[in-house]
Amino acid sequence: RSANNDNIVWHTHQIDKAFRAEQKKQQPCVLWFTGLSGAGKSTVAGVLEHRLAEMGYHTYLLDGDNVRHGLCQDLGFSAEDRRENIRRIGEVAKLMADAGLIVLSAFISPHRHERQLVRDMLPSGEFLEVFVDTPLDECERRDPKGLYKKARAGEIKQFTGIDSEYEKPLDAEVHLSAGHNDVQRLVDQCVDVLKARKIIE
Ligand code: PPS
Repeated sequence: RSANNDNIVWHTHQIDKAFRAEQKKQQPCVLWFTGLSGAGKSTVAGVLEHRLAEMGYHTYLLDGDNVRHGLCQDLGFSAEDRRENIRRIGEVAKLMADAGLIVLSAFISPHRHERQLVRDMLPSGEFLEVFVDTPLDECERRDPKGLYKKARAGEIKQFTGIDSEYEKPLDAEVHLSAGHNDVQRLVDQCVDVLKARKIIE
């Protein structure tokens, strides 16, 4: 998928990221939610986004199922397609952070290597990995879309946690024990980290 970029030159514009951050009174960042299907990534990210919006911050939530309807509609769930999925989302998140936004992204993103690639796309401190840590048996018990049932029946192949691996983060900036805590408490934990890192006031 790589092209010849020899004749493409980066152009620096007058209005930059620092200007936009000052204007919006927030530091841009990418909050990268990762976890199994059904772990609660979209739920926690959605409630956090609502909380931040109420506080007056500018955000954008990139969500797995939604992005796969458009930007990544040509991609499936092979290792290669998941890699490309995460790469594209990383680039989009980077553009949004450059626009000054607090970006929340909620994708399984099962491989450490790809999460690291996105981390490396961003300036130090702007990528915060949020591990939505819900044990597989609890995700399977919830089974909000009935997908685990289908995966166990062999109707869906390469399903994360069943016949496709999930590599847990080893050093996530935020570790949410999402199997038993209520959503508001998990969101409080995220807000505390954002304040401690001076992303919000
Ligand atoms: S990935 O691995 O990051 O590229 O996946 P993502 O883009 O987040 O998409 C995950 C959602 O797609 C549905 N789905 C599957 N998930 C995992 N494995 C397989 N094979 C699969 N097929 C469909 C599922 O609803 C995921 O949504 P969430 O919100 O995570 O439950």
